[in-house]
Amino acid sequence: MLRYTKKGDWVLDAFVGSGTTLIECRRLGRNGIGIELNPDVVKKAKEFINKEPNPYNVVSDVVVGDSRTIDLKSLLSKYGVSKVQLVIMHPPYHDIIKFSKNDPNDLSNAPTVDAFLKMFGNVVDNTSKVLEKGRYLTLVIGDKYANGEWVPLGFYTMNEVLKRGYKLKSIIVKNFEETRGKRNQQNLWRYRALVGGFYIFKHEYIMLFQKELC
Ligand SMILES: C[S@@+](CC[C@H](N)C(=O)[O-])C[C@H]1O[C@@H](n2cnc3c(N)ncnc32)[C@H](O)[C@@H]1O
Repeated sequence: MLRYTKKGDWVLDAFVGSGTTLIECRRLGRNGIGIELNPDVVKKAKEFINKEPNPYNVVSDVVVGDSRTIDLKSLLSKYGVSKVQLVIMHPPYHDIIKFSKNDPNDLSNAPTVDAFLKMFGNVVDNTSKVLEKGRYLTLVIGDKYANGEWVPLGFYTMNEVLKRGYKLKSIIVKNFEETRGKRNQQNLWRYRALVGGFYIFKHEYIMLFQKELC
């Protein structure tokens, strides 16, 4: 955010969850709009964000909606703007953590990897409509295992963004020791990895893409 936006710019998070992006926006003086499908999560996010001081008096708006279809132009027009200067996406890593029981609009409930990628692509299409030309889209994502196979969700989603004319500018590999999905299960995962013939991954990706200038 510091590198690709300046104070007063607009940041859109298409999967805002508990609101981390909007909290950082307040700290850094960026206006933030977050979209989140789950109304209970939105309620919590609003509580977290409102606890954060707002020294630059920026807008922090969290809206319940489906990022594939929500009318972002109307949403932004409420604030007299038509474009954002940064899009942030931290989608579900397909079905490794379920964010709702059976909401078919939730990317974590997509029945197959292909269906997940199609839904993800629809979010890229929808958010691209309001991203200023030459500006950045950030994707945070990790891979998954299924049926004894490594499923490279990171590279698959990267391709969905590239197909839409963006330029890849960086892939940052973020290391971690533990995730919510594997917490307190180190021995189980060590066993699965040995039996399945793969390595346990301890990284996810932050990918940076630039929208075409013309
Ligand atoms: C990996 S989490 C995001 C976490 C977030 N970065 C945070 O700081 O909490 C993914 C979020 O995407 C939401 N989601 C899933 N499908 C969605 C959709 N179609 N539109 C908007 N949000 C969606 C889920 O409810 C979940 O909260």
